[in-house]
Amino acid sequence: MNLVLIGFMGSGKSTVARILSERLSMPCLEMDDFVLQKAECQTMHQVFEKGGESLWRAMELKVALECAKLKNHVISTGGGVVLNPIILENFKIGGGKVFFLDTSFETLVKRIGKDTSRPLFQDHFQAKKLYDSRIPLYLQFADVVIDTDSRSPREVAIEVLNGI
Ligand code: S3P
Repeated sequence: MNLVLIGFMGSGKSTVARILSERLSMPCLEMDDFVLQKAECQTMHQVFEKGGESLWRAMELKVALECAKLKNHVISTGGGVVLNPIILENFKIGGGKVFFLDTSFETLVKRIGKDTSRPLFQDHFQAKKLYDSRIPLYLQFADVVIDTDSRSPREVAIEVLNGI
């Protein structure tokens, strides 16, 4: 079974995925890294400059379809995977269990508000609109919802283990 972590930018997917990978001795896949490789870019900004968000989404779909075929991996997704239902459908068809790391917008701003690496988290007003539009999608696809606001990444990982 794949463990698929979904959630908004800054919700801790990558950190929790690494902890789970160690605990369970399962390989960890960082989807964003593979998207960068496929787009032949070093940074997210370069991909968005090269082909806009649509290039990112096209590469992300290809990466997701490859990841969904794997078995027994921990998969840290990009925050926008829920925009394309085909992605989550394929993760589920492949036997993946989907964990939504639920984080308040205020906490996300504290965590990544000053980080300039994410093209879609530069303007906080726009990011909040994106956040509000995405929450129903994360909830729709989640098998398990984990509140991360009051938990450390290790505690979130334990909640994932409890949810398996
Ligand atoms: C995105 C989130 C990013 C990355 C891309 C788009 C989004 O991943 O996939 O910049 O649309 O929310 P993280 O959630 O890992 O930051």
